[in-house]
Amino acid sequence: MDATALLLDRQSHGKLDGPAPTAEQMSMIYRAALRAPDHGELRPWRFVEYTGAGRETLGALFARAEQADNPDVSDKTLDKARSKPLRAPVVIAVVAAVKANHKVPRIEQVISAGCAAHAMLYAAHAQGLGAMWRTGDFAHHRHVHQAMGLGRDDELVGFLYLGHCVRGDRSLKSLDPADFVERIST
Ligand SMILES: Cc1cc2nc3c(=O)[nH]c(=O)nc-3n(C[C@H](O)[C@H](O)[C@H](O)COP(=O)(O)O)c2cc1C
Repeated sequence: MDATALLLDRQSHGKLDGPAPTAEQMSMIYRAALRAPDHGELRPWRFVEYTGAGRETLGALFARAEQADNPDVSDKTLDKARSKPLRAPVVIAVVAAVKANHKVPRIEQVISAGCAAHAMLYAAHAQGLGAMWRTGDFAHHRHVHQAMGLGRDDELVGFLYLGHCVRGDRSLKSLDPADFVERIST
């Protein structure tokens, strides 16, 4: 796939199936993440990879977070929380591991981790894999942060769901750059 096609055609796939990406494919995805722009070479990121029964561990954590907010939550809602990580064979939590009180501001470190996540989407797409970046309330929940060992300044920038596409590509909306770009030349 040429780089232009990759940049212009990448799209998210919510419906994902096994088999899990191979070790080589995962390695390429992480190597792409590690090429994210990184002010000060802080490497302000951390990845927690959930596969197999590990996804159930993550689902159980989501259910505990749900219950912490609402002790009377229904079984249906708990089951829904538990099943979320089972939507793909691999789920990666992308964490902005922020160096506090550093001259590189926190927001720049969080953006860098976001760039790493974006690079991972491209690396998946380039290899014919499907991927989707999701957050939802659990990405920002104190129980989830605590269980994953996030510090006070850290951020969970998202969960990347990875696998094989169940559906074909959808046709993409064509946006006009002119709607978003101001040009100043004098
Ligand atoms: C930080 C972030 C969090 C997101 N969280 C969700 C989410 O929780 N659920 C969801 O359906 N889409 C979420 N999205 C959007 C999808 O990942 C995706 O970008 C969107 O559906 C558009 O599809 P496309 O990537 O094919 O253009 C999120 C995107 C970003 C950047």
